[in-house]
Amino acid sequence: MTALERKPHVITIAGAGSARVPALVGTLVNYKERFPLSKIIFYDIDRERMGLMEAYDRLVLKCFYPECEVVFTTDEDEAYSQTDFVFCQMRVGKTAMRSLDEKIPLRYGLVGQETCGPGGFAYGMRSLGAMKHMVEKVRSYSKDTWILNYTNPAAIVALGLDKMFPDDKRILNLCDQPYSLMKSFAKILGVPQDILRARYFGLNHFGWFTALKDTEGKDYFDQLRTYLRDHDFKPFNAEQRAKSWLDTYVRVNKYMKYFDEYIPTTYLQYYMFPEEIVEESDPHYTRADESRDTREKEVFEACAKAEGKDSMDRADMLVNSVFGNLMVEVAESIAYDLNHEFIVLVRNEGIIDNFEEDAIVEVAGTIGKDGAKGYPFGPIGPFYKGLMQGQYAYELLTVEAFMEQDYTKALQALTLNRTVVDPSKAKAVLDDLMEANKEYWYLK
Ligand code: G6P
Ligand code: MN
Repeated sequence: MTALERKPHVITIAGAGSARVPALVGTLVNYKERFPLSKIIFYDIDRERMGLMEAYDRLVLKCFYPECEVVFTTDEDEAYSQTDFVFCQMRVGKTAMRSLDEKIPLRYGLVGQETCGPGGFAYGMRSLGAMKHMVEKVRSYSKDTWILNYTNPAAIVALGLDKMFPDDKRILNLCDQPYSLMKSFAKILGVPQDILRARYFGLNHFGWFTALKDTEGKDYFDQLRTYLRDHDFKPFNAEQRAKSWLDTYVRVNKYMKYFDEYIPTTYLQYYMFPEEIVEESDPHYTRADESRDTREKEVFEACAKAEGKDSMDRADMLVNSVFGNLMVEVAESIAYDLNHEFIVLVRNEGIIDNFEEDAIVEVAGTIGKDGAKGYPFGPIGPFYKGLMQGQYAYELLTVEAFMEQDYTKALQALTLNRTVVDPSKAKAVLDDLMEANKEYWYLK
């Protein structure tokens, strides 16, 4: 199929007040031949926040995508009633709640992270409520609309949506971290990213790379493992990353000093080295503050420059978004049934053959018109299986706690989480999180 034959689509950006959206818009412009659009609906419940970027989003589209209709709305019916793809990156409770997710656990000497540990639990409970509502709303209009979800914690959201909508084949949960790590591997190896093919297994934010080859079959995995044994691991875009992110990469090196069979995702460290991470954390200034003071500030400032303008330089368009590229490439692969390779989140069903059938696993696979398919992986060793089983039980109990409003299940979930372990700490942090989240969720 040539680009000319590609039928244009309508997309809805749900959570258009996210500071990640302007770079997504730039990516949509850059991909317009590959994934042409006839209309973009920007939707957020917070008009003011979405408004901080509206002039910029409109200007970019007016200058570089004049054929694409643009709508900004706070009305969910307008957002969802006629759309082909929902690109969802909502953050329920915004940065203020992220900040509490990170700071409350630190009061008890526990890891304060938005997707891992107690913070991820609290965020998961918030996200599940809003995501359930969104899926119901979208489906009240159409069973065909694709829901591409980037809302975190993807592990909890993906499992929860699978439990609540088990027959829905058009919800796809995405995480850009494996994709981002592959960009970093490519830079280290000095090869283009698009020739690299990885094998990977795990749960979201809890997995390992097990192989890396190029399209010709040349194997780079040992070279990379050897490199990571005695060189600091740096993200491909290290100069744009804040210190806290760089630290997470270097801790991959630390993990590999103990276990160098596979290369872990950066997120595994929260479960491996929780004490060291807590010790290095500032309980009054966490990643939520840092991202607000850096990325968010820069994006809002760049967007403010568009106010009152009616032309712009293409060089001033925000791009370079791993998240944006992933979302658009996934949508393209679905829309035109390309079956491109990605690292996907799918129901296990035998992909990892000695692991729970119903778990949502993260593995290499393809994406096409029927959604994501994982490549069969085979069995995993006892170390990985043991770690994943504990983490999966945590995920499942979290989802069940949400669906049944069950306090005991929540307490069991947190006790199982490797960042917590002690039930008395689990209870203390759960009670504080429940109080802080009372507008969003409640357990009996
Ligand atoms: C990666 C992860 C996402 C996470 C993001 C946080 O991209 O895959 O799940 O949301 O990092 O980034 P931030 O810069 O907001 O801390
Ligand atoms: Mn992620």
